[in-house]
Amino acid sequence: MKKIKGWVSRVNFTVSSHCRYPLGMEDGRIKDDALKASSQWHETTGPQYARLNREEGHGAWCPAAQPSVSQYLEVDLGRLTFLTVIGTQGRYIRNSGNEFAREYRVNYSRDGKLWKSWRNRQGNEIIEGNKDAYNSVIKDLRPPIVTRYVRLLPVTRLSTTICMRVELYGCSWDDGLISYSAPEGQRMQPPGYPIANLNDSTYDGVHERGKLFGGLGQLTDGVIGQDDFTRTHEYSVWPGYDYLGWKNDSLEHVEMEFVFDRQRNFTSMKVHSNNMFSRDVKIFSSVSCWFKPHFVWEAEPVEFRTVLDDRNPSARYVTVDLNHRTAKSLRCRFYFADVWMMFSEISFQSGNKHTHVQTKVQNSKKGKITSVTPDDGKTPILIGCLVTIILLLVIIIFLILWCQYVCKVLEKVRIQINDKHLIFLLDPQYQNPAVLRNKLPELSQSAEASACGGGYAEPDITQCTPHQCFHSNAPHYAETDIVRLQGVTGSNMYAVPALTVDSLTRKDISAAEFPRQQLIFREKLGEGQFGEVHLCEAEGLPEFLGEGSPLPDRDGHSVLVAVKQLRADATSQARNDFLKEIKIMSRLNDPNIIRLLCVCVSSDPLCMVTEYMENGDLNMFLSQREIESTLTHANNIPSVSLSDLLHMAVQISSGMKYLASLNFVHRDLATRNCLLDRRLTIKIADFGMSRNLYSSDYYRIQGRAVLPIRWMAWESILLGKFTTASDVWAFGVTLWEIFTLCKEQPYSLLSDEQVIENTGEFFRNQGRQIFLYAPPLCPPSLFELMMRCWSRDIPDRPTFEGLYQALKPHVNQ
Ligand code: ADE
Repeated sequence: MKKIKGWVSRVNFTVSSHCRYPLGMEDGRIKDDALKASSQWHETTGPQYARLNREEGHGAWCPAAQPSVSQYLEVDLGRLTFLTVIGTQGRYIRNSGNEFAREYRVNYSRDGKLWKSWRNRQGNEIIEGNKDAYNSVIKDLRPPIVTRYVRLLPVTRLSTTICMRVELYGCSWDDGLISYSAPEGQRMQPPGYPIANLNDSTYDGVHERGKLFGGLGQLTDGVIGQDDFTRTHEYSVWPGYDYLGWKNDSLEHVEMEFVFDRQRNFTSMKVHSNNMFSRDVKIFSSVSCWFKPHFVWEAEPVEFRTVLDDRNPSARYVTVDLNHRTAKSLRCRFYFADVWMMFSEISFQSGNKHTHVQTKVQNSKKGKITSVTPDDGKTPILIGCLVTIILLLVIIIFLILWCQYVCKVLEKVRIQINDKHLIFLLDPQYQNPAVLRNKLPELSQSAEASACGGGYAEPDITQCTPHQCFHSNAPHYAETDIVRLQGVTGSNMYAVPALTVDSLTRKDISAAEFPRQQLIFREKLGEGQFGEVHLCEAEGLPEFLGEGSPLPDRDGHSVLVAVKQLRADATSQARNDFLKEIKIMSRLNDPNIIRLLCVCVSSDPLCMVTEYMENGDLNMFLSQREIESTLTHANNIPSVSLSDLLHMAVQISSGMKYLASLNFVHRDLATRNCLLDRRLTIKIADFGMSRNLYSSDYYRIQGRAVLPIRWMAWESILLGKFTTASDVWAFGVTLWEIFTLCKEQPYSLLSDEQVIENTGEFFRNQGRQIFLYAPPLCPPSLFELMMRCWSRDIPDRPTFEGLYQALKPHVNQ
């Protein structure tokens, strides 16, 4: 089952980032009898046809009456589910339908009886839906929902017919928690600090007389609070948003009750607590939990004392051992260790057994209850067997991985260099490492190891096996490396000294600091491991940038912009790269290069504000289109003409000509890194952070470096050498992508390993290398140009100036 793209490999500050699996509308795991609707226009537009990307019946669910009269489609997910994303589509049915929902609302119920309305974190119920009948629109639910039943209610202000197809995304809610109660969170109003509101703003139960009950909220939304509780992961929310917090003046302790879907055998409870003791906040000092297996509370609590920590102010998970006690409800009293106590998440771990008989032994000295489980004598044998099986499996996996590693080392491209030139040891006689060692006696194991130790020196590939050279000195533009625009020094990238966080200061950045509170979040455009790209309204940006500054399209005095934001807890390497990217971008000024408008770097999270490109990236744009023909016209299929494609190629060559004139090497030119605005102007950009979307385009070396090998020149792969000439190679591949309308990955029939083998053939140039084929749409003269970009010898490759001059006349024709 494929996870939906987007935030896929984000480091976990939210559970939603990895809980994004399709729940089964499209593939039929959700059966027809789990689908209901308030009405249907005809039996061929019933709820069973509301499946994303399917075109059965008359192509979608369409209600009978106007949706404004609360029409709904209901899905029974069969069990409690953590719902994080909704995808919608209209009725297309091979272009004979054109009904879709521009907006919709979501209601949900955990028990099928009590229904609640979903609202986003700003309190808005409306979700933006489709703009046409064909494309699906995927929306993140922020906050996510824990539910079993979901209703989608199309909203319309016009009297048009509406039809919907949907997919729901998420994962199973294994905690089984269906509600918690707690005292309402409080406000912290310290003199000299901003007010922190520590309430539970997404709680979906009842608020009454200072108590919350019957619902779930921020403690189960998967968002883990930061060390500084005033900082938040969300835009446009107040300080303290991620935490629910209480003060010790009005409460002796905080009592919470947790109700579960069924009786469970609890192993532990994890409480994510703040510990910012400089602001009088600490994790709880102790907790006592009582258990209700059926109808009455058991007298004996489990008590747990935490180890208080006055040295490390990090927020943390405190794991409370629940001693395998059985219950359907739990009541826990948390005791203060300081003035404030703040939680951002609580989760429960329970075993599969529903009932469990326990004997409890009070250990009064430690204030702990430990439980002794009756033993039928088979448990140790079972545990022994399990441990043996696990050990055997680990050994087998280790052996397989080791074999793969050794085989790769022996079988991959073997490079040696003598004084002047590279010798490729692809010849079968060198397949045997013993022969290899006889042939090159200086290549001893120890020399290999020390020569490949890393550092910034040019890799000496005379002194290490290709594997080692490739791995340890491999270009360090891993996923951590957002910046790939780099000055050409004539040498390879190792000669470029690393800028450190300390050495890169505000004065290096020529873009102006924009007040971050004037950035109003609209929607998320992309996400990666180290941050997110958001569409924002920038209030007062025209005035801020001043007269004469060419501005993106505007709406009143605000302007739509793309805001790339680094996560506050990104590594210092990522932070450094982000600042480097800002520094480089602030010096670029060309109609075909994405423009940096301003920055917010005086405080965290670091942001760069660029112009917003309405048509997204070129890869997505082309892959959703066909070549223009009478058929596309007659059927209203989104299309592009050959002259559009040529115009795109010219624009990219023009942007690259500009970069080359400044001696900048892009190092990752590809359609995924070109953006299109409303008028189809192309601007070259670089997306270190949103790269997850295209992660299959990158080859991962030992989890460290990530290389776009299918776009890379042979010398970049084998020698780590990046120049404008290797950008020209990538330009050839980008042209190929354009003329295949991005329907296929380059060398799609070759595995990553075979692409690297093919690189060896490019170097040897003995006619055995596999070239990309001529795309049927591509004029022959243009394919010749592509082939020149892939010349083995660098002087034989065209320059970007030459490419631009060669391509330009095609457009006018
Ligand atoms: N995704 C990343 N950057 C973008 C931009 N500037 N415009 C539109 N989408 C983007």
